[in-house]
Amino acid sequence: MARARLKFPRGFLWGTATSSHQVEGQNTHNDWHTWQEEGQIQNDDKPGLACDWWGGRWKEDFDRAAESGQNAHRMSIEWSRVQPTPDRWDEDALDHYREMIRGLTIRGMTPVVTLHHFTNPKWIAKKGGWENRETIQHFVPYVEKVVEALSDYVKHWCTINEPNVYATLAYLFGDFPPGKQDLGSLFKVMTNLVRGHAAAYHAIHRVQKESRAGMAVNYRGMAPARKWHPLDQFMAWFQSKMYNDFFPNAAHSGRLTFPYKIIRLPEAKGTQDFLGINYYTQELISFSLQHRQELFAHRHFDPHSKLSTTGFIAHEPQGLFQALKWGIQYGIPLMVTENGIEDPEDEIRPQYIAEHIYQLWQGINYNWPIKGYFHWTLVDNFEWERGWSQRFGLWDLDLESQARTRRKSADLYQEICRTNELTSGMVESYAPQSLERLFPG
Ligand code: BGC
Repeated sequence: MARARLKFPRGFLWGTATSSHQVEGQNTHNDWHTWQEEGQIQNDDKPGLACDWWGGRWKEDFDRAAESGQNAHRMSIEWSRVQPTPDRWDEDALDHYREMIRGLTIRGMTPVVTLHHFTNPKWIAKKGGWENRETIQHFVPYVEKVVEALSDYVKHWCTINEPNVYATLAYLFGDFPPGKQDLGSLFKVMTNLVRGHAAAYHAIHRVQKESRAGMAVNYRGMAPARKWHPLDQFMAWFQSKMYNDFFPNAAHSGRLTFPYKIIRLPEAKGTQDFLGINYYTQELISFSLQHRQELFAHRHFDPHSKLSTTGFIAHEPQGLFQALKWGIQYGIPLMVTENGIEDPEDEIRPQYIAEHIYQLWQGINYNWPIKGYFHWTLVDNFEWERGWSQRFGLWDLDLESQARTRRKSADLYQEICRTNELTSGMVESYAPQSLERLFPG
């Protein structure tokens, strides 16, 4: 067979994504620390040193990323480190972040920096977190402080990571702190997150004129389980509206569309210079009276799809194409700010990477303005309420010894990043089961 090469545009950003609480270790000033002390994490796991980035191991991990051809990295700043109490800015913490980000740029990697990735300082949580509108007034000075400190090196900012996941898990399903299951709180938090995003967007632009700011939203394809069934169709449409569309629509139009009302926030209109899409999987939805807590939607995977080790993610690469197709409606550049799978033995990951990058390439061939791809993640990290039970890294982490072991997927991803293309040869060597599907004949 002739060798086929699927090329990506010059300057395309290839990287991995991480978040502060998941990799730094020793974070004791945020609400996830309280959550862990309350024993709310699976197996009573604790982040401990995590990947020990706060202890300095970011250096060796950034070396790994750079040596593997990655030219970008998405990371986040921990609010509770920068502002451990309302009246104190920790300049040492800011210096630490400045050194890390300088470390990226001197290794030739473009930083994309997230300002809020699920965690809140304990003092913010005590005041009611995002249910309290006052949080926005505290978020803005923090954002200004960080942008001032890092603007020499950073141009791309993600205001809030996955406001849809954060709001749903913390206020509807109760898996994230504060563990609420309350619709009234959920809607209040969704509104305040839009306000917070908009205020952060304006603050970023005030401090740094040439910046590019947006949010990263988690996109999950949702299709009716029984295609012919009107209630399944309605539930899939409704869930997708609330979960996928709500936040980017609000940032696009300034309108927050709730089931029973529309709120207008003119200050939110046009507050995204790019849209970050975090895509992992897609699912089927059926109407079910038993699933009250999930607003009558039973969400499940297609029984034919391949599942990740703990059944958390179904391998549905075409869903990434759908996510990008959905994203272009906003008329702004797109970035895949997360995509990955938990797979300690690296059994599906090479196939997952090859097939998702193939879908990404398809989008690029439609001339969609897709600027980069960030794999989740570089080294195994602390997976929130699931603790250490899931392994998303291109490198395996031994938490005790802090030793990293390269997985085969890191080799595949390195070839893609270094050459800026996906070839049939790569697929043949790393994911032979995908060869016929991606390169027929
Ligand atoms: C989050 C990450 C998380 C990943 C895998 C995403 O929703 O942004 O923080 O680790 O999913 O669970």
